[in-house]
Amino acid sequence: MSSSTSTISVDGKSVELPVKEGTIGPSVVDISKLYGQTGMFTYDPGFTSTAATESKITYIDGDKGILLYRGYPIDQLAEHGDFLETCYLLLYGELPTAAQKADFDYRVTRHTMVHDQMNRFFTGFRRDAHPMAIMVACVGALSAFYHDSTDISDPHQRMIASMRMIAKMPTLAAMAYKYSIGQPFVYPQNDLDYTSNFLKMCFAVPAEEYKVNPVLSRALDRIFILHADHEQNASTSTVRLAGSSGANPFACIAAGIACLWGPAHGGANEAALKMLEEIGTPDHIPEYIAKAKDKNDPFRLMGFGHRVYKNYDPRARIMQKTTHEVLNELGIKDDPLLDVAVELEQIALKDEYFVEKKLYPNIDFYSGITLKAMGFPTSMFTVLFALARTVGWIAQWSEMIEDPSQRIGRPRQLYTGSPERDYVTVAQRG
Ligand code: CMC
Repeated sequence: MSSSTSTISVDGKSVELPVKEGTIGPSVVDISKLYGQTGMFTYDPGFTSTAATESKITYIDGDKGILLYRGYPIDQLAEHGDFLETCYLLLYGELPTAAQKADFDYRVTRHTMVHDQMNRFFTGFRRDAHPMAIMVACVGALSAFYHDSTDISDPHQRMIASMRMIAKMPTLAAMAYKYSIGQPFVYPQNDLDYTSNFLKMCFAVPAEEYKVNPVLSRALDRIFILHADHEQNASTSTVRLAGSSGANPFACIAAGIACLWGPAHGGANEAALKMLEEIGTPDHIPEYIAKAKDKNDPFRLMGFGHRVYKNYDPRARIMQKTTHEVLNELGIKDDPLLDVAVELEQIALKDEYFVEKKLYPNIDFYSGITLKAMGFPTSMFTVLFALARTVGWIAQWSEMIEDPSQRIGRPRQLYTGSPERDYVTVAQRG
Protein backbone atom coordinates (compact mmCIF):
# COMPACT_ATOMS: atom_id res chain seq x y z
CA MET A 1 0.00 0.00 0.00
CA SER A 2 1.51 3.33 -0.85
CA SER A 3 2.06 6.65 -0.38
CA SER A 4 1.04 9.51 -2.59
CA THR A 5 -0.80 12.40 -0.98
CA SER A 6 -3.81 14.55 -1.71
CA THR A 7 -4.06 18.16 -0.65
CA ILE A 8 -7.28 19.82 0.38
CA SER A 9 -7.80 23.37 1.40
CA VAL A 10 -9.89 24.03 4.53
CA ASP A 11 -10.55 27.66 5.52
CA GLY A 12 -7.54 28.75 3.50
CA LYS A 13 -5.28 26.20 5.21
CA SER A 14 -3.73 23.43 3.09
CA VAL A 15 -3.86 19.97 4.56
CA GLU A 16 -1.96 17.03 3.11
CA LEU A 17 -3.72 13.73 3.34
CA PRO A 18 -2.16 10.34 2.56
CA VAL A 19 -3.60 8.39 -0.37
CA LYS A 20 -3.68 4.61 0.02
CA GLU A 21 -3.81 2.25 -2.91
CA GLY A 22 -5.48 -1.12 -2.98
CA THR A 23 -4.60 -4.08 -5.21
CA ILE A 24 -7.36 -3.15 -7.65
CA GLY A 25 -10.16 -0.60 -7.50
CA PRO A 26 -10.26 3.03 -6.40
CA SER A 27 -7.60 4.41 -4.07
CA VAL A 28 -8.70 6.11 -0.87
CA VAL A 29 -7.84 9.41 0.74
CA ASP A 30 -7.02 8.69 4.38
CA ILE A 31 -8.93 11.34 6.33
CA SER A 32 -8.42 9.82 9.78
CA LYS A 33 -6.32 12.82 10.89
CA LEU A 34 -8.54 15.43 9.22
CA TYR A 35 -10.54 16.32 12.32
CA GLY A 36 -7.39 16.65 14.40
CA GLN A 37 -5.84 18.97 11.83
CA THR A 38 -8.85 21.05 10.82
CA GLY A 39 -11.64 20.54 13.38
CA MET A 40 -13.89 19.39 10.53
CA PHE A 41 -15.60 16.10 9.83
CA THR A 42 -16.43 14.75 6.37
CA TYR A 43 -20.08 14.24 5.45
CA ASP A 44 -21.20 11.22 3.42
CA PRO A 45 -24.62 9.88 4.39
CA GLY A 46 -25.18 6.46 2.85
CA PHE A 47 -21.39 6.02 2.52
CA THR A 48 -21.39 6.62 -1.23
CA SER A 49 -17.76 7.80 -1.22
CA THR A 50 -16.48 6.30 1.99
CA ALA A 51 -14.39 3.16 2.45
CA ALA A 52 -15.23 2.10 5.99
CA THR A 53 -12.46 -0.46 6.18
CA GLU A 54 -9.57 -2.16 4.44
CA SER A 55 -10.41 -5.74 3.39
CA LYS A 56 -8.88 -8.66 1.49
CA ILE A 57 -12.04 -10.71 1.08
CA THR A 58 -14.32 -9.55 -1.75
CA TYR A 59 -13.91 -7.16 -4.66
CA ILE A 60 -16.66 -5.62 -6.78
CA ASP A 61 -16.26 -3.52 -9.90
CA GLY A 62 -19.75 -2.16 -10.30
CA ASP A 63 -19.14 -0.55 -13.69
CA LYS A 64 -17.76 -3.68 -15.26
CA GLY A 65 -20.08 -6.06 -13.40
CA ILE A 66 -17.24 -7.99 -11.72
CA LEU A 67 -17.45 -9.85 -8.41
CA LEU A 68 -14.42 -11.67 -6.98
CA TYR A 69 -14.16 -13.72 -3.79
CA ARG A 70 -10.49 -13.67 -2.70
CA GLY A 71 -9.64 -12.90 -6.34
CA TYR A 72 -11.71 -15.69 -7.93
CA PRO A 73 -14.54 -14.65 -10.31
CA ILE A 74 -17.99 -15.54 -9.00
CA ASP A 75 -19.01 -17.35 -12.21
CA GLN A 76 -16.03 -19.74 -11.95
CA LEU A 77 -16.74 -20.51 -8.31
CA ALA A 78 -20.45 -21.02 -9.01
CA GLU A 79 -19.77 -23.26 -11.97
CA HIS A 80 -16.95 -25.44 -10.60
CA GLY A 81 -17.00 -25.15 -6.82
CA ASP A 82 -19.39 -25.95 -4.01
CA PHE A 83 -20.68 -23.82 -1.16
CA LEU A 84 -18.52 -25.25 1.62
CA GLU A 85 -15.43 -24.79 -0.54
CA THR A 86 -16.50 -21.16 -0.99
CA CYS A 87 -16.90 -20.88 2.79
CA TYR A 88 -13.34 -22.15 3.25
CA LEU A 89 -12.07 -19.71 0.65
CA LEU A 90 -13.81 -16.73 2.26
CA LEU A 91 -12.67 -17.67 5.75
CA TYR A 92 -9.07 -18.68 5.06
CA GLY A 93 -8.19 -16.80 1.87
CA GLU A 94 -7.24 -19.80 -0.31
CA LEU A 95 -9.10 -22.66 -1.95
CA PRO A 96 -8.67 -25.81 0.15
CA THR A 97 -6.62 -28.82 -0.87
CA ALA A 98 -8.58 -32.08 -1.03
CA ALA A 99 -7.48 -32.95 2.53
CA GLN A 100 -8.30 -29.48 3.87
CA LYS A 101 -11.72 -29.63 2.20
CA ALA A 102 -12.51 -33.04 3.65
CA ASP A 103 -11.48 -31.84 7.11
CA PHE A 104 -13.48 -28.60 6.83
CA ASP A 105 -16.61 -30.37 5.56
CA TYR A 106 -16.29 -32.86 8.43
CA ARG A 107 -15.90 -30.12 11.04
CA VAL A 108 -18.91 -28.15 9.76
CA THR A 109 -21.01 -31.31 9.54
CA ARG A 110 -20.25 -32.22 13.18
CA HIS A 111 -21.93 -29.00 14.33
CA THR A 112 -25.23 -29.24 12.46
CA MET A 113 -27.41 -30.13 15.44
CA VAL A 114 -28.70 -27.40 17.73
CA HIS A 115 -29.07 -27.68 21.50
CA ASP A 116 -32.30 -29.60 22.05
CA GLN A 117 -33.69 -26.86 24.27
CA MET A 118 -33.73 -24.57 21.22
CA ASN A 119 -36.92 -26.47 20.28
CA ARG A 120 -38.70 -24.84 23.18
CA PHE A 121 -37.50 -21.46 22.07
CA PHE A 122 -39.26 -22.05 18.76
CA THR A 123 -42.55 -23.08 20.29
CA GLY A 124 -42.76 -19.71 22.03
CA PHE A 125 -43.43 -18.08 18.66
CA ARG A 126 -46.82 -17.75 16.98
CA ARG A 127 -47.12 -20.06 13.98
CA ASP A 128 -47.53 -17.05 11.67
CA ALA A 129 -44.31 -15.38 12.88
CA HIS A 130 -42.11 -14.23 10.00
CA PRO A 131 -39.18 -16.68 9.83
CA MET A 132 -36.74 -13.74 9.75
CA ALA A 133 -38.10 -12.65 13.16
CA ILE A 134 -37.41 -16.18 14.39
CA MET A 135 -33.92 -16.17 12.88
CA VAL A 136 -32.95 -12.86 14.51
CA ALA A 137 -34.07 -14.24 17.86
CA CYS A 138 -32.66 -17.76 17.55
CA VAL A 139 -29.23 -16.80 16.20
CA GLY A 140 -28.91 -14.17 18.94
CA ALA A 141 -30.00 -16.84 21.42
CA LEU A 142 -27.15 -19.15 20.36
CA SER A 143 -24.94 -17.00 22.58
CA ALA A 144 -27.05 -18.15 25.52
CA PHE A 145 -26.50 -21.80 24.58
CA TYR A 146 -22.83 -21.88 23.60
CA HIS A 147 -20.96 -19.98 26.33
CA ASP A 148 -17.79 -21.84 25.43
CA SER A 149 -17.43 -19.94 22.14
CA THR A 150 -18.20 -16.33 23.01
CA ASP A 151 -14.74 -15.17 24.15
CA ILE A 152 -13.64 -13.20 21.10
CA SER A 153 -10.04 -12.85 22.34
CA ASP A 154 -9.54 -16.63 21.98
CA PRO A 155 -8.87 -17.67 18.33
CA HIS A 156 -10.02 -21.23 19.05
CA GLN A 157 -13.37 -20.03 20.41
CA ARG A 158 -13.78 -17.71 17.43
CA MET A 159 -13.20 -20.64 15.11
CA ILE A 160 -15.70 -22.86 16.93
CA ALA A 161 -18.31 -20.08 16.92
CA SER A 162 -17.79 -19.65 13.16
CA MET A 163 -18.20 -23.39 12.50
CA ARG A 164 -21.26 -23.48 14.69
CA MET A 165 -22.99 -20.67 12.85
CA ILE A 166 -22.23 -21.98 9.35
CA ALA A 167 -23.40 -25.45 10.42
CA LYS A 168 -26.45 -24.50 12.47
CA MET A 169 -27.91 -21.87 10.17
CA PRO A 170 -29.53 -24.45 7.82
CA THR A 171 -30.89 -26.35 10.83
CA LEU A 172 -32.42 -23.19 12.33
CA ALA A 173 -33.75 -21.99 8.97
CA ALA A 174 -35.40 -25.36 8.31
CA MET A 175 -36.85 -25.38 11.84
CA ALA A 176 -38.33 -21.91 11.27
CA TYR A 177 -39.97 -23.19 8.09
CA LYS A 178 -41.24 -26.44 9.62
CA TYR A 179 -42.66 -24.56 12.58
CA SER A 180 -44.56 -22.17 10.30
CA ILE A 181 -46.32 -25.04 8.53
CA GLY A 182 -46.96 -27.11 11.63
CA GLN A 183 -44.72 -30.02 10.68
CA PRO A 184 -42.26 -31.76 13.02
CA PHE A 185 -38.63 -30.66 12.94
CA VAL A 186 -36.36 -32.92 10.89
CA TYR A 187 -32.93 -33.58 12.39
CA PRO A 188 -29.83 -33.12 10.22
CA GLN A 189 -28.47 -36.18 8.45
CA ASN A 190 -24.72 -35.90 8.36
CA ASP A 191 -23.99 -38.25 5.49
CA LEU A 192 -25.68 -35.74 3.17
CA ASP A 193 -23.82 -32.75 1.80
CA TYR A 194 -24.57 -29.32 3.28
CA THR A 195 -27.25 -28.24 0.82
CA SER A 196 -28.90 -31.65 0.36
CA ASN A 197 -29.15 -31.87 4.12
CA PHE A 198 -30.87 -28.49 4.22
CA LEU A 199 -33.37 -29.52 1.53
CA LYS A 200 -34.14 -32.67 3.47
CA MET A 201 -34.64 -30.77 6.75
CA CYS A 202 -37.08 -28.47 4.93
CA PHE A 203 -39.06 -30.90 2.84
CA ALA A 204 -38.88 -34.37 4.43
CA VAL A 205 -41.64 -35.66 6.70
CA PRO A 206 -41.32 -38.63 9.06
CA ALA A 207 -44.17 -40.45 7.32
CA GLU A 208 -42.29 -41.19 4.11
CA GLU A 209 -38.84 -41.49 2.60
CA TYR A 210 -37.37 -38.32 1.10
CA LYS A 211 -34.95 -38.43 -1.78
CA VAL A 212 -32.94 -35.31 -2.47
CA ASN A 213 -33.11 -34.18 -6.10
CA PRO A 214 -29.42 -33.63 -7.05
CA VAL A 215 -30.28 -31.00 -9.68
CA LEU A 216 -32.19 -28.91 -7.14
CA SER A 217 -29.50 -29.42 -4.52
CA ARG A 218 -26.80 -28.28 -6.94
CA ALA A 219 -28.91 -25.26 -7.96
CA LEU A 220 -29.50 -24.22 -4.36
CA ASP A 221 -25.83 -24.75 -3.55
CA ARG A 222 -24.99 -22.38 -6.40
CA ILE A 223 -27.50 -19.85 -5.07
CA PHE A 224 -25.71 -20.05 -1.71
CA ILE A 225 -22.36 -19.40 -3.44
CA LEU A 226 -23.79 -16.34 -5.18
CA HIS A 227 -24.99 -14.90 -1.88
CA ALA A 228 -21.97 -15.81 0.27
CA ASP A 229 -20.36 -12.36 0.45
CA HIS A 230 -20.69 -8.91 -1.09
CA GLU A 231 -18.07 -6.73 0.60
CA GLN A 232 -19.20 -3.81 2.78
CA ASN A 233 -22.97 -3.85 2.18
CA ALA A 234 -25.44 -2.71 4.86
CA SER A 235 -25.72 -6.00 6.79
CA THR A 236 -21.97 -6.69 6.65
CA SER A 237 -21.23 -3.18 7.87
CA THR A 238 -23.79 -3.78 10.63
CA VAL A 239 -21.96 -6.95 11.66
CA ARG A 240 -18.63 -5.13 11.66
CA LEU A 241 -20.01 -2.21 13.67
CA ALA A 242 -21.66 -4.50 16.20
CA GLY A 243 -18.46 -6.56 16.43
CA SER A 244 -16.29 -3.48 16.86
CA SER A 245 -17.67 -3.06 20.38
CA GLY A 246 -16.49 -6.56 21.30
CA ALA A 247 -19.99 -8.10 21.15
CA ASN A 248 -20.00 -11.89 20.82
CA PRO A 249 -20.18 -13.35 17.28
CA PHE A 250 -23.69 -14.80 17.63
CA ALA A 251 -25.03 -11.38 18.64
CA CYS A 252 -23.18 -9.73 15.73
CA ILE A 253 -24.62 -12.15 13.15
CA ALA A 254 -28.11 -11.65 14.63
CA ALA A 255 -27.61 -7.90 14.04
CA GLY A 256 -26.64 -8.65 10.43
CA ILE A 257 -29.77 -10.75 9.94
CA ALA A 258 -31.92 -7.89 11.27
CA CYS A 259 -30.36 -5.49 8.79
CA LEU A 260 -30.65 -7.92 5.90
CA TRP A 261 -34.40 -8.19 6.46
CA GLY A 262 -35.12 -4.74 4.94
CA PRO A 263 -36.71 -4.60 1.45
CA ALA A 264 -33.89 -2.44 0.05
CA HIS A 265 -31.42 -5.23 0.95
CA GLY A 266 -32.09 -8.96 1.43
CA GLY A 267 -35.84 -8.50 1.62
CA ALA A 268 -35.82 -7.55 -2.06
CA ASN A 269 -36.12 -11.16 -3.29
CA GLU A 270 -39.41 -11.54 -1.41
CA ALA A 271 -40.54 -8.11 -2.62
CA ALA A 272 -39.54 -8.90 -6.23
CA LEU A 273 -41.62 -12.06 -6.33
CA LYS A 274 -44.61 -10.29 -4.76
CA MET A 275 -44.24 -7.60 -7.41
CA LEU A 276 -44.19 -10.16 -10.25
CA GLU A 277 -47.32 -11.76 -8.78
CA GLU A 278 -48.98 -8.37 -8.53
CA ILE A 279 -48.14 -7.55 -12.15
CA GLY A 280 -49.65 -10.94 -13.03
CA THR A 281 -49.51 -10.86 -16.83
CA PRO A 282 -47.16 -9.20 -19.33
CA ASP A 283 -49.88 -6.80 -20.54
CA HIS A 284 -49.78 -5.02 -17.14
CA ILE A 285 -46.04 -4.33 -17.40
CA PRO A 286 -46.27 -0.85 -18.99
CA GLU A 287 -48.46 0.31 -16.10
CA TYR A 288 -45.82 -0.78 -13.57
CA ILE A 289 -42.95 0.68 -15.58
CA ALA A 290 -44.83 3.99 -15.57
CA LYS A 291 -45.32 3.76 -11.79
CA ALA A 292 -41.60 3.06 -11.29
CA LYS A 293 -40.71 6.15 -13.32
CA ASP A 294 -43.23 8.41 -11.61
CA LYS A 295 -41.42 10.66 -9.09
CA ASN A 296 -44.63 11.00 -7.07
CA ASP A 297 -45.12 7.26 -6.74
CA PRO A 298 -42.93 5.46 -4.17
CA PHE A 299 -43.12 2.24 -6.22
CA ARG A 300 -39.79 0.84 -7.44
CA LEU A 301 -39.11 -2.13 -9.65
CA MET A 302 -37.94 -4.61 -7.04
CA GLY A 303 -34.93 -6.64 -8.14
CA PHE A 304 -33.71 -3.69 -10.22
CA GLY A 305 -30.90 -1.28 -9.46
CA HIS A 306 -27.94 -1.54 -7.14
CA ARG A 307 -25.79 0.88 -5.19
CA VAL A 308 -22.59 -0.55 -6.63
CA TYR A 309 -23.49 -2.32 -9.90
CA LYS A 310 -24.08 0.14 -12.70
CA ASN A 311 -24.01 -2.77 -15.13
CA TYR A 312 -25.66 -6.19 -15.16
CA ASP A 313 -25.19 -7.79 -11.72
CA PRO A 314 -22.87 -10.77 -12.49
CA ARG A 315 -24.81 -12.84 -9.95
CA ALA A 316 -28.07 -12.14 -11.84
CA ARG A 317 -26.72 -13.79 -15.00
CA ILE A 318 -25.89 -17.02 -13.16
CA MET A 319 -29.18 -16.80 -11.29
CA GLN A 320 -31.12 -16.50 -14.54
CA LYS A 321 -29.42 -19.66 -15.90
CA THR A 322 -30.13 -21.49 -12.64
CA THR A 323 -33.80 -20.49 -12.84
CA HIS A 324 -34.13 -22.14 -16.24
CA GLU A 325 -32.34 -25.29 -15.02
CA VAL A 326 -34.64 -25.61 -12.01
CA LEU A 327 -37.84 -25.02 -13.99
CA ASN A 328 -36.71 -27.55 -16.61
CA GLU A 329 -35.92 -30.15 -13.97
CA LEU A 330 -39.32 -29.66 -12.37
CA GLY A 331 -41.05 -29.83 -15.76
CA ILE A 332 -42.47 -26.32 -15.36
CA LYS A 333 -42.85 -25.33 -18.99
CA ASP A 334 -45.00 -22.25 -18.66
CA ASP A 335 -44.46 -20.28 -15.51
CA PRO A 336 -46.49 -17.05 -15.80
CA LEU A 337 -44.16 -15.34 -13.33
CA LEU A 338 -41.15 -16.20 -15.47
CA ASP A 339 -42.97 -14.83 -18.53
CA VAL A 340 -43.61 -11.57 -16.67
CA ALA A 341 -40.00 -11.43 -15.44
CA VAL A 342 -38.43 -12.04 -18.87
CA GLU A 343 -40.68 -9.48 -20.54
CA LEU A 344 -40.25 -6.92 -17.77
CA GLU A 345 -36.48 -7.27 -17.97
CA GLN A 346 -36.53 -6.79 -21.76
CA ILE A 347 -38.74 -3.71 -21.56
CA ALA A 348 -36.81 -2.11 -18.69
CA LEU A 349 -33.43 -2.72 -20.32
CA LYS A 350 -34.57 -0.70 -23.33
CA ASP A 351 -36.41 2.02 -21.44
CA GLU A 352 -34.63 5.38 -21.40
CA TYR A 353 -35.26 5.93 -17.66
CA PHE A 354 -33.61 2.65 -16.65
CA VAL A 355 -30.82 2.94 -19.24
CA GLU A 356 -29.94 6.46 -18.18
CA LYS A 357 -29.91 5.60 -14.47
CA LYS A 358 -28.03 2.36 -15.17
CA LEU A 359 -30.67 0.25 -13.48
CA TYR A 360 -30.11 -3.42 -14.31
CA PRO A 361 -31.63 -6.58 -12.83
CA ASN A 362 -29.88 -7.59 -9.62
CA ILE A 363 -29.58 -11.06 -8.06
CA ASP A 364 -33.01 -10.80 -6.46
CA PHE A 365 -34.86 -10.44 -9.73
CA TYR A 366 -34.71 -14.14 -10.61
CA SER A 367 -33.95 -15.80 -7.27
CA GLY A 368 -37.57 -15.61 -6.07
CA ILE A 369 -38.92 -17.52 -9.08
CA THR A 370 -36.33 -20.25 -8.56
CA LEU A 371 -36.88 -20.61 -4.83
CA LYS A 372 -40.66 -20.65 -5.28
CA ALA A 373 -40.36 -23.41 -7.88
CA MET A 374 -38.27 -25.41 -5.40
CA GLY A 375 -41.12 -25.20 -2.91
CA PHE A 376 -40.01 -22.40 -0.59
CA PRO A 377 -42.66 -19.85 0.48
CA THR A 378 -41.77 -16.19 -0.12
CA SER A 379 -41.29 -15.59 3.61
CA MET A 380 -38.29 -17.98 3.51
CA PHE A 381 -36.42 -16.22 0.70
CA THR A 382 -34.56 -13.75 2.89
CA VAL A 383 -33.84 -16.53 5.37
CA LEU A 384 -32.01 -18.43 2.61
CA PHE A 385 -30.06 -15.27 1.84
CA ALA A 386 -29.12 -14.98 5.53
CA LEU A 387 -28.07 -18.63 5.62
CA ALA A 388 -25.71 -18.14 2.70
CA ARG A 389 -24.42 -14.72 3.81
CA THR A 390 -23.52 -15.97 7.29
CA VAL A 391 -20.08 -17.07 6.09
CA GLY A 392 -19.42 -13.66 4.53
CA TRP A 393 -20.42 -11.92 7.74
CA ILE A 394 -18.18 -14.24 9.75
CA ALA A 395 -15.22 -13.81 7.41
CA GLN A 396 -15.56 -10.02 7.60
CA TRP A 397 -16.04 -10.08 11.36
CA SER A 398 -12.94 -12.31 11.81
CA GLU A 399 -10.87 -10.07 9.56
CA MET A 400 -11.85 -7.11 11.73
CA ILE A 401 -11.15 -8.86 15.04
CA GLU A 402 -7.74 -10.05 13.80
CA ASP A 403 -6.75 -6.55 12.66
CA PRO A 404 -4.47 -5.14 15.41
CA SER A 405 -5.49 -1.57 14.51
CA GLN A 406 -9.19 -2.32 15.02
CA ARG A 407 -11.10 0.18 17.18
CA ILE A 408 -14.74 0.64 18.04
CA GLY A 409 -16.67 2.08 15.08
CA ARG A 410 -17.98 5.50 16.01
CA PRO A 411 -19.30 7.70 13.17
CA ARG A 412 -19.70 11.42 13.81
CA GLN A 413 -22.49 13.74 12.67
CA LEU A 414 -23.45 17.14 11.38
CA TYR A 415 -25.64 18.44 14.21
CA THR A 416 -28.60 20.52 12.97
CA GLY A 417 -30.72 20.56 16.15
CA SER A 418 -31.26 23.36 18.65
CA PRO A 419 -28.23 25.19 20.05
CA GLU A 420 -27.75 24.96 23.84
CA ARG A 421 -30.70 26.39 25.81
CA ASP A 422 -31.86 26.42 29.43
CA TYR A 423 -34.45 24.07 30.88
CA VAL A 424 -37.90 25.64 31.42
CA THR A 425 -40.26 24.17 34.05
CA VAL A 426 -43.69 22.90 32.89
CA ALA A 427 -45.41 25.79 34.67
CA GLN A 428 -43.37 28.32 32.72
CA ARG A 429 -43.85 26.71 29.27
CA GLY A 430 -47.06 28.58 28.40
N1 CMC B 1 -37.01 1.31 -9.74
C1 CMC B 1 -37.17 2.58 -10.17
N2 CMC B 1 -36.29 3.57 -9.95
C2 CMC B 1 -35.17 3.27 -9.28
C3 CMC B 1 -34.90 1.96 -8.80
C4 CMC B 1 -35.87 0.97 -9.06
N3 CMC B 1 -35.67 -0.29 -8.61
N4 CMC B 1 -33.72 1.95 -8.16
C5 CMC B 1 -33.24 3.20 -8.23
N5 CMC B 1 -34.12 4.01 -8.90
C6 CMC B 1 -33.92 5.42 -9.23
C7 CMC B 1 -34.16 6.29 -8.00
O1 CMC B 1 -35.50 6.73 -7.94
C8 CMC B 1 -33.20 7.41 -8.23
O2 CMC B 1 -33.77 8.30 -9.17
P1 CMC B 1 -33.43 9.88 -9.08
O3 CMC B 1 -31.95 10.00 -9.30
O4 CMC B 1 -34.24 10.45 -10.19
O5 CMC B 1 -33.88 10.31 -7.73
C9 CMC B 1 -31.99 6.76 -8.93
O6 CMC B 1 -32.54 5.58 -9.56
C10 CMC B 1 -30.90 6.32 -7.96
O7 CMC B 1 -31.50 5.56 -6.92
P2 CMC B 1 -31.02 5.60 -5.42
O8 CMC B 1 -32.13 5.15 -4.53
O9 CMC B 1 -30.38 6.91 -5.12
O10 CMC B 1 -29.89 4.49 -5.47
P3 CMC B 1 -29.28 3.74 -4.24
O11 CMC B 1 -27.92 3.37 -4.64
O12 CMC B 1 -29.43 4.52 -2.97
O13 CMC B 1 -30.23 2.45 -4.09
C11 CMC B 1 -31.15 0.30 -4.29
C12 CMC B 1 -29.91 1.19 -4.52
C13 CMC B 1 -30.76 -1.17 -4.53
C14 CMC B 1 -31.60 0.42 -2.82
C15 CMC B 1 -32.26 0.73 -5.26
O14 CMC B 1 -31.87 0.57 -6.59
C16 CMC B 1 -33.57 -0.01 -5.00
O15 CMC B 1 -34.35 0.38 -4.13
N6 CMC B 1 -33.82 -1.13 -5.76
C17 CMC B 1 -34.95 -1.97 -5.50
C18 CMC B 1 -34.68 -2.88 -4.31
C19 CMC B 1 -33.73 -4.00 -4.67
O16 CMC B 1 -33.89 -4.66 -5.68
N7 CMC B 1 -32.76 -4.24 -3.76
C20 CMC B 1 -31.83 -5.37 -3.91
C21 CMC B 1 -30.42 -4.95 -4.00
S1 CMC B 1 -29.38 -6.34 -4.50
C22 CMC B 1 -29.38 -7.41 -3.15
C23 CMC B 1 -28.68 -6.86 -1.96
O17 CMC B 1 -27.53 -6.42 -2.09
O18 CMC B 1 -29.26 -6.91 -0.88
